[in-house]
Amino acid sequence: MLLIQDLAQLVTHKGTAAAGGETQDQLTVLEGRSILIKGEKIAAIGTTETLLKRHPEAKRAPKIQGKKLIALPGLVDPHTHLPWMGNRRQEFNLRLRGVTYVDIAKKGGGILNTLQAVREATPKALTRATVDRALSCLQYGVTTVEAKSGYGLSLKDEIKQLEAIRDAQAEVPLRLVPTLLAAHELPPEYRTDRRAFIDLIVRSIIPEVSSRKLAAFCDVFCEKGFFSPEEAFRILQAAGRHGLKPRLHADEFVSSGAAEVAGHLRALSADHLNFPSDAGLRAMAKAGTVAVLLPGASMFLLHRHHPNVSDLRKHGIPMAIGTDANPGSSPTTNLLLVMRLGSFLYGMSAEAAITAVTLNAAASLNLAGETGTLETGKLADLSLWAVPHYLDLFYHYGDNPLAYTICRGKVAFQKR
Ligand code: NIG
Ligand code: FE
Repeated sequence: MLLIQDLAQLVTHKGTAAAGGETQDQLTVLEGRSILIKGEKIAAIGTTETLLKRHPEAKRAPKIQGKKLIALPGLVDPHTHLPWMGNRRQEFNLRLRGVTYVDIAKKGGGILNTLQAVREATPKALTRATVDRALSCLQYGVTTVEAKSGYGLSLKDEIKQLEAIRDAQAEVPLRLVPTLLAAHELPPEYRTDRRAFIDLIVRSIIPEVSSRKLAAFCDVFCEKGFFSPEEAFRILQAAGRHGLKPRLHADEFVSSGAAEVAGHLRALSADHLNFPSDAGLRAMAKAGTVAVLLPGASMFLLHRHHPNVSDLRKHGIPMAIGTDANPGSSPTTNLLLVMRLGSFLYGMSAEAAITAVTLNAAASLNLAGETGTLETGKLADLSLWAVPHYLDLFYHYGDNPLAYTICRGKVAFQKR
């Protein structure tokens, strides 16, 4: 049991489905409420007086004084590439001198640079790196993290990455959600035979990963110069037959027809979306696909063209925000910062940005029935912040006021 008492604010969305249209700008804000946690779940929310009347046993519960704190749902990071090795600071430096991400990739840098480091790493070192990054998420109030493979690009090395995620899960209190991203780039052995690499993904990697239950989702980098919409279709349909749900890296650099693929396959998410077509947005809206926006990558790649947030809202498309934590385009696990960039770079309201890292991010991972809002019956995944008002999370844009991260009812991180 745990009783969080007399919170300055309790800030949450409600429900178990993604919030689209204007509802994503609306939060429920309650003052002076307490949260009673029993086991892994939220048992009750109310004033201390009514809670103690209805649950007298709570008098004996350990307590957190909440008068100077606000509570948000535990944040959900719906897009990361956590199991990586190596470092690409020199590519970053080249970009500051005007070389683009796509130019660097064409010259054999980028994803292939990290591929080498991942293939050379021992499973133990890769797991260690994944654990360290997952633990660092806790200091930003994050309680759920999606994590992709995509730097192995062979049966053996994609599995090594997914096993690193599985093994890391045993060592961290937050939840890791694994995604197979074998179609991230063509590995060196298949540079001249893309068809053979896609066959390998469809015939070997997907069936093996699925039968060993190493991933919940399958992702494809669907972008000009990487994988085409037709290839994405083939890979994601095969994944679907093996029980891996589709999500996509979509239309990041140019309009590639990827948002259309996401809609037609009823993907849970289409991510990046700097250049979706109108038809693509209509298809996503019809399918209920969540737009996972990645403003950290926009900033770090010095992109000037951003997703059109008001267009997404007009289409009724729910927006989520993820860090895209990866060594090339967004080397950070700081979802608090990236949430703020949703507002400062993309023009999202503070309320929409909060919705985007809670309910909508959870929905994009098919987890909104369990986490992403503060409601009785949901998992007690919470973040507590030492500010009087949720707007201060944005207003004091350089501070990290995180006080506690609570995963499944247990204090997983406490600021000292
Ligand atoms: O989401 N865009 C593709 N994949 C990653 C970048 C991967 C890398 O550069 O290592 C992304 O930005
Ligand atoms: Fe990514």
